[in-house]
Amino acid sequence: MPDLELTPHQHSVTRELRTEIKPHRPACLWFTGLSGSGKSTIANALEYRLNMDFDAHTYLLDGDNIRSGLNRDLGFSLADRAENIRRLGEVAKLFVDAGLIVLTAFISPLREDRQRAREILPPGTFIEIFVDCPLEICEQRDPKGLYRKARRGEMPDFTGISSPYE
Ligand code: ADX
Repeated sequence: MPDLELTPHQHSVTRELRTEIKPHRPACLWFTGLSGSGKSTIANALEYRLNMDFDAHTYLLDGDNIRSGLNRDLGFSLADRAENIRRLGEVAKLFVDAGLIVLTAFISPLREDRQRAREILPPGTFIEIFVDCPLEICEQRDPKGLYRKARRGEMPDFTGISSPYE
């Protein structure tokens, strides 16, 4: 990391003030699981209910979306996935600071990377949700045809096949 002289400014509008005008506390609902397990589908349904039933102010960060913008320079090596999760943790932290309920749907395969995200968020705001779907079922669903490609050896470092999930 470069040695920079940084002095954070103390802002007058704080997370506490932003939270007071909302009907809920801020939180990060962190969905994790294999590709095809249903993270995005469940996060999307939950976000809809939070809005409709609780007037919640939410935002959904999704793997395929973020990877086509902010994180489009990253691939699927474990080092790139760690950087993907690090940046997402930082983005989620900003949304929590803004007072929102942020939902994230990323494989986030390594315990250590998820733990790092938990540690940078305010205590009690990071809620990890493991979408517990067996590999065989994800592979049967194969909504994007990626498991078939991975089995044919055309997708290196594919989670659950040639790259770990913890
Ligand atoms: S993570 O491991 O860094 O958290 P992320 O959730 O952002 O992954 O992206 C996963 C999505 O990228 C999958 O749902 C799938 O559509 C696509 N993808 C492309 N290549 C791979 C790969 N090698 N392993 C897993 N997912 C991949």
